[in-house]
Amino acid sequence: MKGNQDLINMLNSLLADELTAINQYMVHSEMCASWGYGKLHEHFEKRAITEMKHAETLIGRILFLEGIPIVSELRKIHIGADVAKQLQYDHEAEEVAVKGYNTGIKLAGEVGDFATREILEHILADEDGHIDGIETLQDQIGQMTLPVFLSTQN
Ligand SMILES: [Fe+2]
Ligand SMILES: [Fe+2]
Repeated sequence: MKGNQDLINMLNSLLADELTAINQYMVHSEMCASWGYGKLHEHFEKRAITEMKHAETLIGRILFLEGIPIVSELRKIHIGADVAKQLQYDHEAEEVAVKGYNTGIKLAGEVGDFATREILEHILADEDGHIDGIETLQDQIGQMTLPVFLSTQN
């Protein structure tokens, strides 16, 4: 089914956000593994896989709309030198995602593609949850102090 070109461009822009997030989470996950923070490693690794599922969904939708998925575009990746910075940069990336999906949902409605809108709404709910998860960890760090928090992450 031929989709609206503006919407296809929007989906490709969201795809670039997701591909960037996958890489950022993957590096953060491996950094935590090398520091011996197994729980954080698993947490970030799982997150990278979720973002990959989002990328897959977007690629599938772009193809269905007879567009060309662009997988060679990445945004700037922000790697945190410590866990607190990693969480800060991941929070920023998730905020970009939430903003992007909200814009995409609005556009999908405007061009009358409500199936795409529903797909984007599902992903947006995930991104909302990601922000919640990051803020939970940041709250714990604030309450326990970073060294105590890290001692719970082996
Ligand atoms: Fe995502
Ligand atoms: Fe996310």
